[in-house]
Amino acid sequence: MSSDLEALLHETRRFAPPAAFAAAANAQPSIYDEAAADPVAWWRQQARRLTWDVEPTETLSWNRPFATWFADGRLNASVNCVDRHVANGLGDRVAFHWVGEPEDDTRTITYRDLLAMVSQAAHALTDMGVRRGDRVAIYMPMIPEAVVAMLACARIGAAHSVVFGGFAADALSDRIRDADCRVVITADGGYRRGAAAALKPTVDEALADCPGVTGVLVVRRTGQDVAFVEGRDHWWHDLVERQSTEHQPESFPAEQPLYIMYTSGTTARPKGIMHSTGGYLTQVATTHWYAHDLKPETDVCWTSADIGWVTGHSYIVYGPLANGATQVMYEGTPDAGGRDRWWRIVEEYKVTILYTAPTAIRTFMKWGKEFPAAHDLSSLRLLGSVGEPINPEAWIWFYETIGGSRCPVIDTWWQTETGGMMMTPLPGIAAAKPGAAMRAFPGISVDVVDHDGHSVGNGQGGFLVITQPWPAMTRGIWGDPERFAETYWSRFENAYFAGDGAKRDEDGDIWLLGRVDDVMNISGHRISTTEVEHALVGHHSVAEAAVVGASDETTGQAIVAFVTLKQEFAEQSDDELITQLREHIARTISPIAKPRQIVFTPDLPKTRSGKIMRRLLRDVAEHRALGDVTTLTDPNVVNMIGDLMNAHQSDDE
Ligand code: PRX
Repeated sequence: MSSDLEALLHETRRFAPPAAFAAAANAQPSIYDEAAADPVAWWRQQARRLTWDVEPTETLSWNRPFATWFADGRLNASVNCVDRHVANGLGDRVAFHWVGEPEDDTRTITYRDLLAMVSQAAHALTDMGVRRGDRVAIYMPMIPEAVVAMLACARIGAAHSVVFGGFAADALSDRIRDADCRVVITADGGYRRGAAAALKPTVDEALADCPGVTGVLVVRRTGQDVAFVEGRDHWWHDLVERQSTEHQPESFPAEQPLYIMYTSGTTARPKGIMHSTGGYLTQVATTHWYAHDLKPETDVCWTSADIGWVTGHSYIVYGPLANGATQVMYEGTPDAGGRDRWWRIVEEYKVTILYTAPTAIRTFMKWGKEFPAAHDLSSLRLLGSVGEPINPEAWIWFYETIGGSRCPVIDTWWQTETGGMMMTPLPGIAAAKPGAAMRAFPGISVDVVDHDGHSVGNGQGGFLVITQPWPAMTRGIWGDPERFAETYWSRFENAYFAGDGAKRDEDGDIWLLGRVDDVMNISGHRISTTEVEHALVGHHSVAEAAVVGASDETTGQAIVAFVTLKQEFAEQSDDELITQLREHIARTISPIAKPRQIVFTPDLPKTRSGKIMRRLLRDVAEHRALGDVTTLTDPNVVNMIGDLMNAHQSDDE
């Protein structure tokens, strides 16, 4: 850290909002008191942002751990995101400035265009036999049709399950089977890192194990050759584009499932997190409005996440579209066409609100100031961060180098399970501290508690919990209601356990400290240690594996795997096997789950009851002094692993 920065951190720990911003901000200081006076009533008020076919008279019904919100109201999510804006005379407003990865490959999609596209896709899905209550898998690149596919499902009451396009066939297949999807929407491929990457072959491979899928809808994006299964596969341009652009929407109960999103937990099987319609839309629209300080007439929002993660769902699709926002959507990688690609996009489209992840910020820091400096970024007025703890150095770089020291930075904490933002400094109200998510959003109650569930005082650390139900709260885990109760609601009495550590500083402001369970956060992607271990032992050479997350300057955390080989492989060349194992992970889970380092060890440290002591392995991976080893069967194992670790230095790409 530079000494200037250190001084800055010590002297100016708070960054006050510019007066002009504060005066015009959507959120004014009274918002906290108004929400605190009666949070349920406040959310009911916020639900008025939506257009209801039947206004709800009920608000919250709470039967721990299951909540319903606005249960007797009826609405259609796609009408809220599209039709009503066109009906209000905003049909010509741009919904998406879409930027493809290849240069000059752009599309402009107005709300009127979006309505026509969603209507056609809704008809096509109906033709394919999709009915209300069915599930549809979406495995797409970052193209407008991905958004259209989601909204078309919502329009006909089918729940979508978007699977990140980086997932391998096995991972896709597991998710399609778990949710019992009837139809898959995909593309021939997409552009990543300057080349066309294929998607359809992965779908074909995945579907070999999914007999329940009767139809596949394929967008032509790259023009690659694709194999077609007669009767099952249809081109989007054949089936969708011949449909009527008018579609009569139905209205659904507020609790109608809107989507399932798979996320990693502490077990090998990912969990299908379910979200509802009315409560979810209320919270994502409200948080987008206040935390992003949206001025829909003039703002151009850019959320850099992929549509395959919850951030894409809540802050590219449902929140911004419900609010009638104009957005930039970019298909590719940050350095496609040059390391200044993002800043060219900001300049060209005059982006005003940029919402991204700390990993991206740290990558830009590494590349250097000259890339943003070559462009006019003066259109920016608000910056946001999500997905992992942001280190103060990255926060300050973002604030100064990208935001020109004039844009508030919001550090927003939330999860797939929470559906929408839960903690963030509201821009324009309070001064922000680099690295702190500060406090709960209005109408949300969080606490930091100790092992026994007691609130900790200022200056102390503990576990982050949520103490009251919230509108976008997950409605449970698909097919496994007990697991929902057990995972989130059993660690502490009467509180939702998020899995994150947190501290309260001397002023009472909250800082997130990262996961306290066996979930790793790699570049903002949530990956379970067990899932990677499971994949490793699935390789014919591996007897046993233990995986931990270790700090990484760019990706936040990186995966370190300790592997014990089967006897007959013990003599094999390390490098060759390491490459094989990393490829095996890429093929069974995703390239994002490839370990940074694999250490072969004849033994793993275990307790007397046979449990692998991951805590010790974490210490080894972090090169920390080792903690208590008294319960270990053979304390020498850890020292030996430490030596091996140093012998085989990082196998970074
Ligand atoms: O550990 C927290 C971290 O990301 C986890 C949630 O991951 P996921 O469900 O994939 O959702 C990511 C996008 C909302 C959390 O349990 N996390 C997310 N945002 C922050 C964060 N950690 C610290 N600060 C944040 N702002």
